[in-house]
Formats: sequence, C-alpha cells, structure tokens
Amino acid sequence: ITSRQSTSFALNMAETALTQDELKKMVGYKAVDDYVKSGMVVGLGTGSTAYFAVERVGNLLKSGELKDIVCIPTSERTKEQALSLDIPLVTLDTHSKLDVAIDGADEVDPSLNLVKGGGGALLREKMVEVMADKFIVIVDESKLCDGLGPGFPIPVEITPFCHEHTMRQVAALDSCAGCKPVLRMGSSSSNQPDGDDIAVTDNGNYIVDLHFEEAIKDARKMALDIKAVVGVVDHGLFCDMSTAVIIAGKDGISVKK
Ligand code: 5RP
Repeated sequence: ITSRQSTSFALNMAETALTQDELKKMVGYKAVDDYVKSGMVVGLGTGSTAYFAVERVGNLLKSGELKDIVCIPTSERTKEQALSLDIPLVTLDTHSKLDVAIDGADEVDPSLNLVKGGGGALLREKMVEVMADKFIVIVDESKLCDGLGPGFPIPVEITPFCHEHTMRQVAALDSCAGCKPVLRMGSSSSNQPDGDDIAVTDNGNYIVDLHFEEAIKDARKMALDIKAVVGVVDHGLFCDMSTAVIIAGKDGISVKK
C-alpha cells in the first residue's frame, strides 16, 4: 500500500465513520419514517436518541408530510422539546390507546428485553409505552448485550419516604442477590451523575441503581419481585414490550423483531 493509497484510505474512513450522534439520528429518523403515519397517537421517548425521533416528528409536521397526529411525551424534557417544535400534545388521561411509541434504551438483550431509565424517565416511559400498539426501540449497536445487568445498572424508582429501608428490601430479594444498590445523586439522568443532592425524578421520587457483576439469569422474575416491594414505584426492566428494535451500526441499519 503506497502512502497516497493509505492517505486516501484514512480519508475515506474519516468520511464514512459516523459519530454516535449521527447513528442516533439515523435510527430516530428511520423509526418515525417507518412507523408514524398521519392521524396517529404517538408516544415520544426520552434521551439523546429519542431526541432525534421527536425532531423528525416536528420537521414532518412543519412540512405538512404528517398531519393530525397527537403525541404523549414521556418526560418534562421531551415535553419541552415537543412544545418548542409545535407538536400537539395530549396525555394518557384523554388518550389511553397509542398507535406507536418510539424510545431509546440503555441495554437490549437477545430476547429484546430492555434496561431503561438511564435518563430517569422510566415510570412515564413505561406507563406510555405499555399502552402502545407498537413500541419501537431505537439504539446504536453499543446497547446490544448478551445478558442484562453487568453493562448497565438496573434503575428502580422508589418513594423518598424511608428510601434507605426500601433500598435494603430490594437488595435483599433472592433475584437481586449480589447487587450493589446505589442511590442516584445529582441529575436524575445517570449520564450526568455529579452533584451532592439526591436526584429527583419528574414524579418527585428517587432512583436506586442496582449494579450487577454478572448477567441477570431471569429478568422477568426479577421484574416481578422488584415491583412487589412496597415503596417501589417501578423499575427499568422492560420485558416483553418491544415490537421492534432498530439498530444503527457501522454496517448500516438493522431491525430485530
Ligand atoms: C431515559 C431512558 C433512555 O431511553 C435511555 O437512557 C437511553 O438514552 P440515550 O438514547 O440517551 O442513550 O430510558 O429514562
């Protein structure tokens, strides 16, 4: 390989290697283009990937390619973004049935079970997404894993009242054996964990992140066990909910169903 060839190879790589943000934009836009049609009720997810889906909905409404849709945001952050784009918003109180919801995830296992809640929005996300006919997950390939747990802690939303007690009750569950529970501090997003104050969710609750060193053997059982602890509001295990996962990787876009 000559030095001219090697320079041109390096330039091509630089031109084609997409940034993480570009990958997120690709899947965010594709999910909207493939699954959102005029007249639908649409759930809008939370996070840096869902951001691009919301942006796409706003752009298509503005250009007139989408008409008569109403959306339900899954966090105050997403609500603000949607309002800034003039996206018509409703709530689950008036619209319990959604045609589609689109959201990111922190981890996706081979059965399409998810960990969500890295951004602290897990309760509203689950309330909205469980009511959607189709729940479309958008991720870059770094989110794929063989087993949930060691790659990303499981967030659990708990009431502030006697939260240390609730943390102990969760950690003592057989299905959570070996976990290290850590109360989330700073922002409610685990991506910005700095800060001396306890993180508070949009619902006024706390989040405890359960750190595991080994893959969780039975995520469905763990989900039921954690949910049964009094003081737990909900958790970031989203089992058997995904209709399709759209994945952006270095070789392009793929879809798992
Ligand atoms: C927020 C979430 C997000 O969907 C999840 O954290 C993924 O976020 P990002 O797309 O920024 O990686 O569950 O509660």
